[in-house]
Amino acid sequence: MTLHGKLIGASLGPGDPELITRRAWAVLQSGARWLYPVKKAEESSYALSIVARGGLPIPADAEELVFPMTRDADILAKAWQRAAVRTVALLAEGRDLVFLVEGDASTFATFGHLARVVSELLPSVEVETIPGVSSFAAAAATTGTVLAEEDETFAIIPAAYGVEVIDHLLDEFDTLALLKVKPLVDEVVDLLERRDLLATSVFIEKVGSPEERIVRDVASLKGEKVNYLSLMLVQNPKRVRGELRRGCRKRKEAADS
Ligand SMILES: C[S@@+](CC[C@H](N)C(=O)[O-])C[C@H]1O[C@@H](n2cnc3c(N)ncnc32)[C@H](O)[C@@H]1O
Repeated sequence: MTLHGKLIGASLGPGDPELITRRAWAVLQSGARWLYPVKKAEESSYALSIVARGGLPIPADAEELVFPMTRDADILAKAWQRAAVRTVALLAEGRDLVFLVEGDASTFATFGHLARVVSELLPSVEVETIPGVSSFAAAAATTGTVLAEEDETFAIIPAAYGVEVIDHLLDEFDTLALLKVKPLVDEVVDLLERRDLLATSVFIEKVGSPEERIVRDVASLKGEKVNYLSLMLVQNPKRVRGELRRGCRKRKEAADS
């Protein structure tokens, strides 16, 4: 018999509370205890702000878990361990826990790692992931960008791989979603200029939130300190495509005729 609660990762979408799924909305009101991520103790939580804007009262016993934004492995390991140990202690009280996730819980989210560490400490724990709208899906919709159609290719990458990798990927993919673009904006803009792709690129900050910002003249971003919650969608209409295997194209042509 399971005496401890279930750990639920509830995706909330990237900012507009209208994009919270019915399932996440129901779980938030199910009596499960809320956990939400912050970068520093008692700092505001973007995930929590999405729910608050949706009109749900924040329960008095909602609890923050601190996940610092640092590359220091020691600090990170200690913070993760503290968050996981606290989560296990709360699960032992028998109540379900709902961890609030900005965007989609399976896409570059803290939840996957938290669930893994908690499962190591408590192997019998039941984990549920509620999928949601990702930042790049909402950004595509808001800017009228088609991410992929027919046999086009589409990749999602953290920009931190650097411009050489992005340059190479532009030969392989028709569309790139460059996440975590903040530290590399200037270099990416230079690359887009070199490849003559400024006109088919768009920058989006805090999509769906009251501070949403869309910049189509991406060259104007040079020298600017942008928000961490920002991304670029880059399309390469000049990409030279290879032949498709297994007759996919032929089958489609036959179906169309
Ligand atoms: C840790 S990842 C979280 C991704 C998120 N789980 C998702 O499904 O989109 C953070 C990065 O996602 C992108 N991002 C997340 N939320 C965003 C938003 N509201 N507007 C623009 N970009 C966002 C940014 O590139 C940011 O650096």
